[in-house]
Amino acid sequence: MKNGLEDVVAAETQLSDVNGEAGQLVIRGVSLDRLVEYASYEDVVALLLDGLLEGVLEKDNLRKRLGQMRAEVFAHVRAIDDEMLELPPVDIIRALIARLVDGDDLETALRLLAAPAVFLPAILRLKRGETPVAPTPSLSQSADILTMLDATLPSKAQVAALDTYLVTISDHGLNASTFAARVVASTKAGLTSSVLAAISALKGPLHGGAPGPVLDMLDAVGTRENAESWLGQALDRGERLMGFGHRVYRVRDPRADALKGALKLMIAADQVDLDRMHLAEAVEQTALAILKERKPNRPLDVNVEFYTALLLDALKFPRDAFTGVFAIGRTIGWIAHALEQSLDGRLIRPRSVYVGPLPQAA
Ligand code: ACO
Repeated sequence: MKNGLEDVVAAETQLSDVNGEAGQLVIRGVSLDRLVEYASYEDVVALLLDGLLEGVLEKDNLRKRLGQMRAEVFAHVRAIDDEMLELPPVDIIRALIARLVDGDDLETALRLLAAPAVFLPAILRLKRGETPVAPTPSLSQSADILTMLDATLPSKAQVAALDTYLVTISDHGLNASTFAARVVASTKAGLTSSVLAAISALKGPLHGGAPGPVLDMLDAVGTRENAESWLGQALDRGERLMGFGHRVYRVRDPRADALKGALKLMIAADQVDLDRMHLAEAVEQTALAILKERKPNRPLDVNVEFYTALLLDALKFPRDAFTGVFAIGRTIGWIAHALEQSLDGRLIRPRSVYVGPLPQAA
């Protein structure tokens, strides 16, 4: 038995390869650095769904269908009531997705891709006491998310940054939420049920929920001069530094660099708080040095969540919404894995080792 199933191979996939030793992520034969340079979110959706669904469309058509689907799912925003608004955004997204019909077809897949992209901006506006903004189907998914959030057309740099984020996190091997999606898909429950399982697995701080705490950490550190003592004391208390370490990567997470590149675009467009950036760089360098000293046997480097925090903060998403933005981007990976699992047709049913009392003793 391997605790946490570390290094256990539990699926064959054609979708993505996470090479932890080389620090490389390949999505359907394309390395992440090429993907962020040349592909849009819609391109990656087409790439990941190719061959898995009847009637998958080429990019322009897909963009149109996804836009129409955003307009359709907007009707569900009416279901958000005051009691729901007390919940964290990702919980509201989950509750709204639970109302959608289940299925295994292209229509269901598009509905699930559109749903969190429409629900999150509406939830954030309602939480601020503002009226939700209806989608603009002709826009790209990234441009529309930002338009629905702020009720104004975003800049090119902002759209490019969000698009890079969505591409970067679209898929990542057999992570906890994707595994949850595949387990549910293996029961033939349908794509909506699989996505609901995945979104539940995404909530905790150990997977997907870390970028908010990364900003809390930066706030607590406060100044560059304070970084060394604050980080040292946090480790003395047995805490983990948010945004560092990874189960698979033993070197730098390539997604961190992809997002750092997107941030540079926003810096060039003068849309990033430079003080915050300089503080983050100081915290990153100091944390790497301290972790190397304290955990010499465990290579710990920066992970995707660190730069996610800075990027989403620069795009003006509140920190309690970060997990929801992650869900918008990762839904395509969950759907593709669920479909791949259904095609394989085998129910996932591992075994456990009983370590409780024997019947007589009990
Ligand atoms: N800060 C300090 N110490 C750490 C950190 C960290 N961020 N990450 C791991 N360690 C230490 C552990 O305490 C452990 O030390 P020990 O052997 O002395 O007890 C050692 O490194 C090995 O850690 P594991 O628990 O084996 O690492 P695991 O593979 O289970 O955890 C994880 C990976 C959960 C990401 C971990 O690194 C962590 O908690 N990081 C902080 C939270 C975070 O950034 N989460 C986002 C991950 S990215 C994503 O999900 C998309």
